[in-house]
Amino acid sequence: MKIERSKINFSIGKNTSKNIYKVIPVVKDSLPKELETKFADQIRSGIFAGESGQSFIDESERIIYLGLGNSNKVSIRSVAQIFLSIGEKLRKWDSVGLEIKLTRFLTKTLSTSSLVYQIANSIDLGAFPINVLAKDFKEKKPKFGNVSFVLEDPNAEKSAKAGLDKSRSVSKYVNGARYIAHLPANHFTPEEFVSRSKEIAKEAGLKITVMDEPQLKKEKMGGILAVSQGSDKKPKMIVLEYNPPKAKSKKKLALIGKGLTFDSGGISIKPAQDMHEMKYDMCGAAAVIHAIGAIAELGISVPVIAAIGVAENMPDAAALKPGDVYTAHNGLTVEVQNTDAEGRLVLGDVLSYIGKKYKPDYMIDLATLTGAIIISLGHEAAGVMSNSDKLRGLLDEASASSDERTWNLPLWDEYGEDLKSDIADLRNIAGRPGGSLSAAKYLERFVDSGIDWAHIDIAGTAWRKKASGTQIGNGPSGYGVRLLVDLAEKLEKNRGV
Ligand code: BES
Ligand code: MG
Ligand code: ZN
Repeated sequence: MKIERSKINFSIGKNTSKNIYKVIPVVKDSLPKELETKFADQIRSGIFAGESGQSFIDESERIIYLGLGNSNKVSIRSVAQIFLSIGEKLRKWDSVGLEIKLTRFLTKTLSTSSLVYQIANSIDLGAFPINVLAKDFKEKKPKFGNVSFVLEDPNAEKSAKAGLDKSRSVSKYVNGARYIAHLPANHFTPEEFVSRSKEIAKEAGLKITVMDEPQLKKEKMGGILAVSQGSDKKPKMIVLEYNPPKAKSKKKLALIGKGLTFDSGGISIKPAQDMHEMKYDMCGAAAVIHAIGAIAELGISVPVIAAIGVAENMPDAAALKPGDVYTAHNGLTVEVQNTDAEGRLVLGDVLSYIGKKYKPDYMIDLATLTGAIIISLGHEAAGVMSNSDKLRGLLDEASASSDERTWNLPLWDEYGEDLKSDIADLRNIAGRPGGSLSAAKYLERFVDSGIDWAHIDIAGTAWRKKASGTQIGNGPSGYGVRLLVDLAEKLEKNRGV
Protein backbone atom coordinates (compact mmCIF):
# COMPACT_ATOMS: atom_id res chain seq x y z
CA MET A 1 0.00 0.00 0.00
CA LYS A 2 1.49 3.27 -1.08
CA ILE A 3 1.04 5.64 1.82
CA GLU A 4 2.38 9.09 1.13
CA ARG A 5 4.93 9.84 3.77
CA SER A 6 5.36 13.35 5.01
CA LYS A 7 8.13 14.84 2.93
CA ILE A 8 8.88 17.44 5.54
CA ASN A 9 12.39 17.29 6.85
CA PHE A 10 12.60 18.50 10.45
CA SER A 11 15.76 19.51 12.25
CA ILE A 12 17.11 21.53 15.15
CA GLY A 13 19.08 24.69 14.47
CA LYS A 14 19.32 27.36 11.78
CA ASN A 15 17.58 26.67 8.51
CA THR A 16 19.99 27.29 5.70
CA SER A 17 17.74 26.22 2.84
CA LYS A 18 16.36 28.69 0.31
CA ASN A 19 12.95 30.28 0.46
CA ILE A 20 12.45 30.19 4.19
CA TYR A 21 10.36 32.19 6.58
CA LYS A 22 11.11 32.66 10.23
CA VAL A 23 8.16 31.80 12.41
CA ILE A 24 7.87 33.64 15.70
CA PRO A 25 5.07 32.55 18.00
CA VAL A 26 4.08 35.50 20.19
CA VAL A 27 1.85 36.00 23.21
CA LYS A 28 -0.60 38.85 23.26
CA ASP A 29 0.51 40.35 26.56
CA SER A 30 4.17 40.48 25.66
CA LEU A 31 4.67 41.22 21.98
CA PRO A 32 8.28 41.45 20.75
CA LYS A 33 9.66 45.01 20.78
CA GLU A 34 10.68 45.03 17.10
CA LEU A 35 7.13 44.09 16.12
CA GLU A 36 5.61 46.77 18.32
CA THR A 37 7.76 49.54 16.92
CA LYS A 38 7.72 48.53 13.26
CA PHE A 39 4.02 47.72 13.05
CA ALA A 40 2.50 50.02 15.67
CA ASP A 41 -0.35 50.98 13.30
CA GLN A 42 -1.27 47.41 12.52
CA ILE A 43 -1.28 46.50 16.17
CA ARG A 44 -3.36 49.54 17.11
CA SER A 45 -5.91 48.80 14.39
CA GLY A 46 -6.22 45.14 15.44
CA ILE A 47 -4.81 43.69 12.20
CA PHE A 48 -2.45 41.77 14.42
CA ALA A 49 -2.68 41.77 18.19
CA GLY A 50 -1.25 38.34 19.01
CA GLU A 51 -4.70 36.83 19.37
CA SER A 52 -4.76 33.06 19.17
CA GLY A 53 -4.96 32.00 15.53
CA GLN A 54 -3.96 35.41 14.14
CA SER A 55 -0.89 35.62 11.97
CA PHE A 56 1.04 38.50 10.45
CA ILE A 57 3.74 38.45 7.82
CA ASP A 58 6.61 40.92 7.72
CA GLU A 59 7.63 40.34 4.10
CA SER A 60 10.70 42.57 4.21
CA GLU A 61 12.22 40.43 6.97
CA ARG A 62 10.44 37.23 5.93
CA ILE A 63 8.99 36.69 9.37
CA ILE A 64 5.63 35.13 10.18
CA TYR A 65 4.34 36.19 13.59
CA LEU A 66 1.92 33.67 15.03
CA GLY A 67 -0.48 34.75 17.72
CA LEU A 68 -0.87 32.43 20.70
CA GLY A 69 -3.30 34.59 22.70
CA ASN A 70 -2.73 35.45 26.34
CA SER A 71 0.32 33.89 27.96
CA ASN A 72 -1.76 32.34 30.74
CA LYS A 73 -3.90 30.53 28.12
CA VAL A 74 -1.01 28.91 26.27
CA SER A 75 -1.30 25.13 26.31
CA ILE A 76 -0.14 22.16 24.28
CA ARG A 77 -3.56 22.17 22.70
CA SER A 78 -3.55 25.83 21.69
CA VAL A 79 -0.06 25.55 20.20
CA ALA A 80 -0.84 22.29 18.41
CA GLN A 81 -3.97 23.79 16.92
CA ILE A 82 -2.06 26.69 15.41
CA PHE A 83 0.61 24.49 13.89
CA LEU A 84 -1.97 22.19 12.32
CA SER A 85 -2.93 25.11 10.11
CA ILE A 86 0.73 25.83 9.39
CA GLY A 87 1.02 22.24 8.18
CA GLU A 88 -1.96 22.75 5.92
CA LYS A 89 -0.40 25.93 4.50
CA LEU A 90 2.90 24.16 3.80
CA ARG A 91 1.01 21.62 1.73
CA LYS A 92 -0.46 24.40 -0.40
CA TRP A 93 2.69 26.50 -0.68
CA ASP A 94 5.51 25.59 -3.03
CA SER A 95 8.76 24.53 -1.35
CA VAL A 96 8.54 26.93 1.55
CA GLY A 97 10.77 26.17 4.53
CA LEU A 98 10.31 27.40 8.07
CA GLU A 99 12.60 28.30 10.93
CA ILE A 100 10.47 28.19 14.06
CA LYS A 101 11.71 30.14 17.02
CA LEU A 102 10.94 28.62 20.38
CA THR A 103 11.18 31.22 23.06
CA ARG A 104 12.31 30.58 26.60
CA PHE A 105 8.76 31.32 27.70
CA LEU A 106 7.38 28.47 25.55
CA THR A 107 9.97 25.84 26.37
CA LYS A 108 9.60 26.64 30.07
CA THR A 109 5.82 26.67 30.12
CA LEU A 110 5.25 23.53 28.08
CA SER A 111 8.44 21.41 28.39
CA THR A 112 10.67 21.39 25.36
CA SER A 113 10.30 17.77 24.29
CA SER A 114 6.51 17.73 24.35
CA LEU A 115 6.35 21.16 22.74
CA VAL A 116 8.57 20.14 19.82
CA TYR A 117 6.80 16.77 19.59
CA GLN A 118 3.40 18.40 19.38
CA ILE A 119 4.42 21.12 16.93
CA ALA A 120 6.22 18.78 14.52
CA ASN A 121 3.40 16.26 14.82
CA SER A 122 0.77 18.90 14.14
CA ILE A 123 2.61 20.16 11.07
CA ASP A 124 2.87 16.62 9.70
CA LEU A 125 -0.81 15.94 10.40
CA GLY A 126 -1.92 19.27 8.95
CA ALA A 127 0.17 18.66 5.82
CA PHE A 128 -1.36 15.24 5.22
CA PRO A 129 -3.84 15.21 2.32
CA ILE A 130 -6.94 13.04 2.30
CA ASN A 131 -8.09 13.37 -1.33
CA VAL A 132 -5.87 10.41 -2.18
CA LEU A 133 -8.12 8.95 -4.86
CA ALA A 134 -8.50 12.21 -6.77
CA LYS A 135 -6.77 12.98 -10.04
CA ASP A 136 -5.45 16.16 -8.47
CA PHE A 137 -3.71 14.17 -5.78
CA LYS A 138 -1.76 12.14 -8.31
CA GLU A 139 -0.93 15.07 -10.54
CA LYS A 140 -0.14 17.84 -8.09
CA LYS A 141 2.36 16.59 -5.56
CA PRO A 142 3.08 19.19 -2.90
CA LYS A 143 6.68 20.32 -2.56
CA PHE A 144 7.90 20.92 0.96
CA GLY A 145 10.83 22.91 2.27
CA ASN A 146 12.71 22.03 5.45
CA VAL A 147 11.41 22.93 8.90
CA SER A 148 13.80 23.69 11.70
CA PHE A 149 13.52 24.76 15.34
CA VAL A 150 15.70 27.43 16.84
CA LEU A 151 15.81 27.48 20.63
CA GLU A 152 16.33 30.56 22.71
CA ASP A 153 17.53 28.32 25.52
CA PRO A 154 20.56 26.33 24.26
CA ASN A 155 20.16 23.83 27.11
CA ALA A 156 16.84 22.75 25.68
CA GLU A 157 18.41 21.26 22.56
CA LYS A 158 18.67 17.70 23.75
CA SER A 159 15.05 17.41 24.74
CA ALA A 160 14.01 19.18 21.54
CA LYS A 161 15.77 16.45 19.63
CA ALA A 162 13.96 13.79 21.64
CA GLY A 163 10.65 15.45 20.81
CA LEU A 164 11.51 15.49 17.10
CA ASP A 165 12.53 11.83 17.10
CA LYS A 166 9.25 10.86 18.71
CA SER A 167 7.24 12.93 16.27
CA ARG A 168 8.98 11.39 13.27
CA SER A 169 7.71 7.90 14.12
CA VAL A 170 4.40 8.87 15.61
CA SER A 171 3.22 11.17 12.83
CA LYS A 172 4.12 8.57 10.24
CA TYR A 173 1.93 6.00 11.98
CA VAL A 174 -0.91 8.41 12.79
CA ASN A 175 -1.07 9.39 9.13
CA GLY A 176 -0.86 5.72 8.16
CA ALA A 177 -3.91 5.02 10.30
CA ARG A 178 -5.71 8.01 8.79
CA TYR A 179 -4.85 6.87 5.29
CA ILE A 180 -6.37 3.41 5.60
CA ALA A 181 -9.31 4.74 7.62
CA HIS A 182 -10.29 7.12 4.85
CA LEU A 183 -10.17 4.52 2.08
CA PRO A 184 -13.65 3.29 1.20
CA ALA A 185 -14.74 -0.31 1.61
CA ASN A 186 -14.10 -1.19 -2.05
CA HIS A 187 -10.48 -0.06 -1.70
CA PHE A 188 -9.84 -1.34 1.78
CA THR A 189 -11.18 -4.84 2.37
CA PRO A 190 -10.25 -7.43 5.02
CA GLU A 191 -7.54 -8.67 2.59
CA GLU A 192 -6.08 -5.15 2.48
CA PHE A 193 -6.01 -5.16 6.26
CA VAL A 194 -3.77 -8.20 6.04
CA SER A 195 -1.44 -6.45 3.57
CA ARG A 196 -1.21 -3.30 5.63
CA SER A 197 -0.55 -5.31 8.81
CA LYS A 198 2.23 -7.20 7.02
CA GLU A 199 3.78 -3.91 5.92
CA ILE A 200 3.76 -2.62 9.48
CA ALA A 201 5.19 -5.91 10.76
CA LYS A 202 8.03 -5.68 8.27
CA GLU A 203 8.73 -2.01 8.83
CA ALA A 204 8.70 -2.19 12.63
CA GLY A 205 10.09 -5.71 13.06
CA LEU A 206 7.00 -7.38 14.51
CA LYS A 207 5.82 -10.96 14.51
CA ILE A 208 2.58 -11.40 12.61
CA THR A 209 -0.06 -14.12 12.66
CA VAL A 210 -3.01 -14.04 10.29
CA MET A 211 -5.98 -16.26 10.98
CA ASP A 212 -8.20 -16.92 7.97
CA GLU A 213 -11.70 -18.38 8.01
CA PRO A 214 -10.64 -22.04 8.46
CA GLN A 215 -8.56 -21.15 11.55
CA LEU A 216 -11.33 -18.97 12.91
CA LYS A 217 -13.64 -21.95 12.56
CA LYS A 218 -11.14 -24.22 14.23
CA GLU A 219 -10.77 -21.77 17.13
CA LYS A 220 -14.56 -21.49 17.39
CA MET A 221 -14.68 -17.74 16.84
CA GLY A 222 -18.45 -17.82 16.44
CA GLY A 223 -18.90 -14.03 16.72
CA ILE A 224 -16.52 -13.01 13.94
CA LEU A 225 -17.89 -15.75 11.71
CA ALA A 226 -21.50 -14.76 12.42
CA VAL A 227 -20.91 -11.12 11.53
CA SER A 228 -19.18 -11.87 8.25
CA GLN A 229 -21.50 -14.59 6.98
CA GLY A 230 -23.61 -12.15 4.92
CA SER A 231 -20.59 -10.77 3.09
CA ASP A 232 -18.50 -12.15 0.24
CA LYS A 233 -15.39 -10.91 2.05
CA LYS A 234 -13.83 -13.48 4.35
CA PRO A 235 -13.17 -12.45 7.95
CA LYS A 236 -9.70 -12.32 9.54
CA MET A 237 -8.06 -12.09 12.86
CA ILE A 238 -4.60 -10.53 12.78
CA VAL A 239 -2.14 -10.52 15.67
CA LEU A 240 1.02 -8.40 15.76
CA GLU A 241 3.57 -8.97 18.51
CA TYR A 242 6.32 -6.73 19.76
CA ASN A 243 8.75 -8.37 22.16
CA PRO A 244 11.57 -6.01 23.07
CA PRO A 245 14.63 -7.82 24.39
CA LYS A 246 15.01 -7.42 28.18
CA ALA A 247 11.82 -5.37 28.44
CA LYS A 248 11.87 -2.79 31.21
CA SER A 249 8.21 -3.31 31.86
CA LYS A 250 7.34 -6.76 33.13
CA LYS A 251 3.73 -6.13 32.26
CA LYS A 252 2.30 -7.23 28.95
CA LEU A 253 -0.02 -4.86 27.11
CA ALA A 254 -2.64 -6.12 24.66
CA LEU A 255 -4.34 -3.74 22.25
CA ILE A 256 -7.54 -4.95 20.60
CA GLY A 257 -9.26 -3.24 17.66
CA LYS A 258 -12.63 -3.39 15.95
CA GLY A 259 -12.02 -3.75 12.24
CA LEU A 260 -15.32 -3.61 10.36
CA THR A 261 -14.25 -2.54 6.88
CA PHE A 262 -17.92 -1.72 6.33
CA ASP A 263 -20.93 -1.85 8.62
CA SER A 264 -24.23 -1.71 6.73
CA GLY A 265 -26.00 -2.93 9.85
CA GLY A 266 -26.67 -6.30 8.20
CA ILE A 267 -30.33 -7.42 8.15
CA SER A 268 -31.02 -4.78 10.84
CA ILE A 269 -29.92 -2.40 8.11
CA LYS A 270 -28.94 1.19 8.82
CA PRO A 271 -30.76 4.17 7.32
CA ALA A 272 -29.20 5.49 4.08
CA GLN A 273 -28.25 8.82 5.63
CA ASP A 274 -24.58 8.73 6.60
CA MET A 275 -24.27 5.01 5.95
CA HIS A 276 -21.22 5.76 3.81
CA GLU A 277 -19.42 6.82 6.98
CA MET A 278 -19.46 3.20 8.10
CA LYS A 279 -16.29 2.70 6.04
CA TYR A 280 -14.73 4.20 9.17
CA ASP A 281 -15.93 1.32 11.33
CA MET A 282 -12.39 -0.07 11.26
CA CYS A 283 -10.74 2.90 12.97
CA GLY A 284 -10.13 1.02 16.23
CA ALA A 285 -8.20 -1.67 14.35
CA ALA A 286 -6.34 0.95 12.29
CA ALA A 287 -5.30 2.72 15.50
CA VAL A 288 -3.96 -0.34 17.30
CA ILE A 289 -1.90 -1.77 14.42
CA HIS A 290 -0.35 1.64 13.82
CA ALA A 291 0.18 2.28 17.52
CA ILE A 292 2.18 -0.94 17.91
CA GLY A 293 4.21 0.08 14.85
CA ALA A 294 5.09 3.40 16.45
CA ILE A 295 5.79 1.83 19.87
CA ALA A 296 8.20 -0.67 18.30
CA GLU A 297 9.90 1.87 16.07
CA LEU A 298 10.47 4.11 19.08
CA GLY A 299 11.88 1.13 20.95
CA ILE A 300 9.64 1.63 23.97
CA SER A 301 10.62 -1.22 26.24
CA VAL A 302 7.23 -2.84 26.89
CA PRO A 303 5.94 -6.10 25.40
CA VAL A 304 2.86 -5.33 23.30
CA ILE A 305 0.36 -7.39 21.32
CA ALA A 306 -2.07 -5.83 18.86
CA ALA A 307 -4.97 -8.00 17.75
CA ILE A 308 -7.74 -7.04 15.39
CA GLY A 309 -10.97 -8.70 14.37
CA VAL A 310 -11.73 -7.89 10.74
CA ALA A 311 -15.02 -8.42 8.93
CA GLU A 312 -17.64 -6.79 6.75
CA ASN A 313 -21.25 -6.58 7.96
CA MET A 314 -23.63 -7.06 5.02
CA PRO A 315 -27.16 -8.34 4.43
CA ASP A 316 -27.67 -11.22 2.04
CA ALA A 317 -29.32 -14.62 1.98
CA ALA A 318 -26.59 -16.09 4.15
CA ALA A 319 -26.57 -13.18 6.61
CA LEU A 320 -27.15 -13.50 10.31
CA LYS A 321 -30.80 -12.86 11.15
CA PRO A 322 -32.26 -11.11 14.18
CA GLY A 323 -33.00 -13.78 16.76
CA ASP A 324 -30.20 -16.10 15.61
CA VAL A 325 -28.09 -17.63 18.36
CA TYR A 326 -24.35 -18.26 18.01
CA THR A 327 -21.70 -19.65 20.33
CA ALA A 328 -18.83 -17.29 21.08
CA HIS A 329 -15.15 -18.18 21.53
CA ASN A 330 -15.52 -18.38 25.32
CA GLY A 331 -18.47 -20.77 25.03
CA LEU A 332 -21.23 -18.29 25.85
CA THR A 333 -24.31 -18.46 23.62
CA VAL A 334 -25.59 -15.13 22.32
CA GLU A 335 -28.99 -14.21 20.92
CA VAL A 336 -28.43 -11.57 18.23
CA GLN A 337 -31.50 -9.36 18.46
CA ASN A 338 -29.95 -6.64 16.34
CA THR A 339 -27.39 -7.45 13.66
CA ASP A 340 -26.17 -3.84 13.74
CA ALA A 341 -24.72 -4.37 17.21
CA GLU A 342 -21.99 -6.40 15.49
CA GLY A 343 -18.81 -4.84 16.84
CA ARG A 344 -19.29 -6.46 20.22
CA LEU A 345 -19.63 -9.88 18.57
CA VAL A 346 -16.30 -9.48 16.84
CA LEU A 347 -14.53 -7.94 19.83
CA GLY A 348 -15.92 -10.52 22.24
CA ASP A 349 -14.09 -13.28 20.38
CA VAL A 350 -10.83 -11.36 20.12
CA LEU A 351 -10.89 -10.36 23.81
CA SER A 352 -11.52 -13.94 24.81
CA TYR A 353 -8.89 -15.41 22.48
CA ILE A 354 -6.14 -12.95 23.44
CA GLY A 355 -7.00 -13.15 27.14
CA LYS A 356 -6.63 -16.93 27.14
CA LYS A 357 -3.70 -17.31 24.77
CA TYR A 358 -1.45 -14.42 25.86
CA LYS A 359 -2.68 -13.68 29.39
CA PRO A 360 -1.87 -9.96 29.16
CA ASP A 361 -1.70 -7.82 32.29
CA TYR A 362 -3.40 -4.91 30.59
CA MET A 363 -5.90 -5.24 27.77
CA ILE A 364 -7.38 -2.24 25.99
CA ASP A 365 -9.86 -2.30 23.15
CA LEU A 366 -10.53 0.57 20.79
CA ALA A 367 -13.78 0.48 18.87
CA THR A 368 -16.23 2.65 16.98
CA LEU A 369 -18.78 0.77 19.00
CA THR A 370 -21.86 2.92 19.63
CA GLY A 371 -23.64 5.93 18.18
CA ALA A 372 -24.64 6.62 21.78
CA ILE A 373 -21.11 7.75 22.68
CA ILE A 374 -21.53 10.60 20.17
CA ILE A 375 -24.72 11.61 21.97
CA SER A 376 -22.89 11.77 25.30
CA LEU A 377 -19.45 13.15 24.40
CA GLY A 378 -19.82 14.54 20.89
CA HIS A 379 -16.62 14.42 18.87
CA GLU A 380 -14.16 15.76 21.42
CA ALA A 381 -13.51 12.82 23.72
CA ALA A 382 -13.52 9.05 23.62
CA GLY A 383 -15.39 7.21 26.38
CA VAL A 384 -13.34 4.99 28.68
CA MET A 385 -15.00 2.16 30.58
CA SER A 386 -12.67 0.09 32.71
CA ASN A 387 -12.65 -2.58 35.40
CA SER A 388 -9.37 -1.24 36.80
CA ASP A 389 -8.61 1.99 38.67
CA LYS A 390 -4.93 1.51 37.90
CA LEU A 391 -5.42 1.29 34.16
CA ARG A 392 -7.89 4.16 34.23
CA GLY A 393 -5.24 6.26 35.98
CA LEU A 394 -2.59 5.36 33.40
CA LEU A 395 -4.96 6.26 30.58
CA ASP A 396 -5.77 9.59 32.24
CA GLU A 397 -2.06 10.39 32.31
CA ALA A 398 -1.54 9.30 28.71
CA SER A 399 -4.53 11.36 27.64
CA ALA A 400 -3.14 14.46 29.32
CA SER A 401 0.32 14.16 27.76
CA SER A 402 -0.82 13.10 24.29
CA ASP A 403 -3.69 15.58 24.21
CA GLU A 404 -6.03 12.88 22.93
CA ARG A 405 -9.03 13.42 25.15
CA THR A 406 -10.65 10.57 27.07
CA TRP A 407 -13.55 10.70 29.49
CA ASN A 408 -14.32 8.08 32.11
CA LEU A 409 -17.74 6.48 32.19
CA PRO A 410 -19.17 3.94 34.66
CA LEU A 411 -19.21 0.19 34.29
CA TRP A 412 -21.74 -0.56 37.02
CA ASP A 413 -23.41 -3.96 36.97
CA GLU A 414 -26.88 -2.47 36.58
CA TYR A 415 -25.97 -1.40 33.05
CA GLY A 416 -25.65 -5.05 32.13
CA GLU A 417 -28.96 -6.20 33.58
CA ASP A 418 -30.89 -5.93 30.34
CA LEU A 419 -28.47 -8.12 28.42
CA LYS A 420 -30.44 -11.18 29.55
CA SER A 421 -31.93 -13.47 26.92
CA ASP A 422 -34.80 -15.97 27.37
CA ILE A 423 -33.09 -18.52 25.14
CA ALA A 424 -29.33 -18.00 25.38
CA ASP A 425 -26.72 -16.85 27.93
CA LEU A 426 -27.09 -13.24 26.81
CA ARG A 427 -28.43 -11.04 24.04
CA ASN A 428 -26.47 -8.42 22.16
CA ILE A 429 -28.62 -5.34 22.86
CA ALA A 430 -30.14 -3.80 25.97
CA GLY A 431 -32.28 -0.87 24.89
CA ARG A 432 -31.31 2.72 24.20
CA PRO A 433 -30.59 4.22 27.63
CA GLY A 434 -26.86 4.16 28.38
CA GLY A 435 -26.19 2.35 25.10
CA SER A 436 -22.40 2.76 25.33
CA LEU A 437 -22.36 1.38 28.86
CA SER A 438 -24.40 -1.75 28.16
CA ALA A 439 -22.13 -2.36 25.16
CA ALA A 440 -19.14 -2.23 27.53
CA LYS A 441 -20.90 -4.60 29.97
CA TYR A 442 -21.39 -6.99 27.06
CA LEU A 443 -17.65 -6.91 26.25
CA GLU A 444 -16.78 -7.45 29.91
CA ARG A 445 -18.34 -10.91 29.70
CA PHE A 446 -15.51 -11.89 27.34
CA VAL A 447 -12.63 -10.59 29.45
CA ASP A 448 -11.03 -13.22 31.69
CA SER A 449 -10.86 -12.32 35.36
CA GLY A 450 -7.54 -10.95 36.55
CA ILE A 451 -6.97 -8.85 33.45
CA ASP A 452 -6.97 -5.08 33.89
CA TRP A 453 -9.14 -4.06 30.98
CA ALA A 454 -10.39 -0.84 29.45
CA HIS A 455 -12.81 -0.36 26.61
CA ILE A 456 -12.42 2.88 24.66
CA ASP A 457 -15.38 3.86 22.49
CA ILE A 458 -13.95 6.03 19.71
CA ALA A 459 -17.10 6.34 17.57
CA GLY A 460 -17.10 10.10 18.16
CA THR A 461 -13.39 10.81 17.82
CA ALA A 462 -12.27 8.57 14.96
CA TRP A 463 -13.45 10.92 12.23
CA ARG A 464 -15.22 14.22 11.79
CA LYS A 465 -17.62 15.84 9.38
CA LYS A 466 -15.99 19.22 9.91
CA ALA A 467 -12.92 20.88 11.41
CA SER A 468 -12.58 21.35 15.15
CA GLY A 469 -9.96 22.74 17.50
CA THR A 470 -8.04 19.50 17.27
CA GLN A 471 -8.46 18.83 13.57
CA ILE A 472 -7.80 20.91 10.52
CA GLY A 473 -10.58 19.58 8.32
CA ASN A 474 -13.07 16.77 8.02
CA GLY A 475 -12.15 13.11 7.80
CA PRO A 476 -10.16 10.61 9.85
CA SER A 477 -8.28 11.74 12.96
CA GLY A 478 -6.04 8.74 13.66
CA TYR A 479 -7.34 8.96 17.21
CA GLY A 480 -5.75 6.50 19.59
CA VAL A 481 -2.26 6.15 18.14
CA ARG A 482 -0.80 9.01 20.18
CA LEU A 483 -2.74 8.01 23.28
CA LEU A 484 -1.45 4.43 23.13
CA VAL A 485 2.14 5.46 22.43
CA ASP A 486 2.09 7.64 25.55
CA LEU A 487 0.46 4.86 27.54
CA ALA A 488 3.30 2.51 26.56
CA GLU A 489 5.79 5.20 27.62
CA LYS A 490 4.10 5.42 31.04
CA LEU A 491 4.28 1.64 31.44
CA GLU A 492 7.95 1.68 30.51
CA LYS A 493 8.66 4.36 33.10
CA ASN A 494 6.64 2.64 35.79
CA ARG A 495 8.58 -0.56 35.16
CA GLY A 496 7.03 -3.17 37.41
CA VAL A 497 3.67 -1.45 37.84
N1 BES B 1 -20.48 1.02 14.07
C1 BES B 1 -21.68 1.28 14.78
C2 BES B 1 -21.55 2.43 15.77
C3 BES B 1 -21.48 3.81 15.19
C4 BES B 1 -22.63 4.45 14.79
C5 BES B 1 -20.28 4.44 15.09
C6 BES B 1 -22.56 5.73 14.28
C7 BES B 1 -20.21 5.72 14.60
C8 BES B 1 -21.34 6.37 14.18
C9 BES B 1 -22.11 0.05 15.55
O1 BES B 1 -21.82 -1.16 14.97
C10 BES B 1 -23.59 0.11 15.70
O2 BES B 1 -24.26 0.07 14.71
N2 BES B 1 -24.07 0.23 16.93
C11 BES B 1 -25.46 0.37 17.19
C12 BES B 1 -25.79 -0.45 18.40
C13 BES B 1 -27.25 -0.60 18.68
C14 BES B 1 -27.90 -1.41 17.59
C15 BES B 1 -27.43 -1.25 20.02
C16 BES B 1 -25.76 1.84 17.41
O3 BES B 1 -24.95 2.55 18.02
O4 BES B 1 -26.79 2.29 16.94
MG1 MG C 1 -23.34 -1.76 13.61
ZN1 ZN D 1 -20.19 -1.18 13.70
